[in-house]
Amino acid sequence: MLGIYFSGTGNTKYCVERFLGYYDGSKPISIENPDVTEAMRKAETIVLGYPIYYSNIPKIMRDFIYHNRANFNNKNVFIICTMGLFSGDGAGCSARLLKRYGANIVGGLHLKMPDCKGDVKLLKKSLEENKQLVKSADNKIKDAVDSIKRGRATKDGLNILCHAAGLFGQRLWFYKKTLNYTNKLKIDKRMCIGCSRCVSLCPMSNLSIFNQKASADSKCTMCYRCISNCPQKAITLLGKEVIEQCLMENYLAK
Ligand SMILES: Cc1cc2nc3c(=O)[nH]c(=O)nc-3n(C[C@H](O)[C@H](O)[C@H](O)COP(=O)(O)O)c2cc1C
Ligand code: SF4
Ligand code: SF4
Repeated sequence: MLGIYFSGTGNTKYCVERFLGYYDGSKPISIENPDVTEAMRKAETIVLGYPIYYSNIPKIMRDFIYHNRANFNNKNVFIICTMGLFSGDGAGCSARLLKRYGANIVGGLHLKMPDCKGDVKLLKKSLEENKQLVKSADNKIKDAVDSIKRGRATKDGLNILCHAAGLFGQRLWFYKKTLNYTNKLKIDKRMCIGCSRCVSLCPMSNLSIFNQKASADSKCTMCYRCISNCPQKAITLLGKEVIEQCLMENYLAK
């Protein structure tokens, strides 16, 4: 079983790692890893993980699936989606695409995790509540792996009712948000110290340093990685200021 994932702030990486850890102890790889295509070619079963953005697939993952469509042909795929609250058919969104490319969808798992939008107050939880969320997700992952081993994979987000919930609950109203990359990322030049941390972390190579200050292009997939890691809290996207820098490692029970 091969685990592959996209993860902006670490939630999805953590969940796919836990899943494989319980399943067979193997390690997943990011879609940003240049070796991912070769690994996919050799795999029979793929666990695919991604976060939900506006009840939909992040644009970077949609493009990855399209570019690797031949590598999904005839593969068994189990889909893991992480989300702050609700997605309806988060797993169903990629399942429909993957079926078109010849994949056999064996199951889906939806996991509620800390909300990663660090510049938006809505949905923010206390540190204790977030730690509890992670613990609950961990239990759900363990149960899902047990179910697979008993031959009854979970099917979160894959039925027609979930499809209607995802579509009417959110996706229809925000459909355009994930259709393209965005140019809405804002960098406060007065706060930026030109450290390049955001530049080296961006999965889209969307950031660069110009005159010792970071600047953004228009290929942002909205992953919040740079926002969560900037030492100056100089970067925002949906909101106007950084309230919390959301990084998975903060939510692990110590
Ligand atoms: C642009 C954006 C849109 C999001 N939309 C949703 C949503 O529709 N429903 C939801 O439950 N969570 C939503 N979230 C929260 C993330 O899905 C959640 O925090 C996820 O676990 C982040 O995973 P990551 O750390 O692997 O990037 C959104 C996050 C972002 C950045
Ligand atoms: S991480 Fe922050 S301070 Fe460093 S270059 Fe990027 S925006 Fe500037
Ligand atoms: S600019 Fe920031 S939020 Fe956008 S894709 Fe790059 S790291 Fe993610």
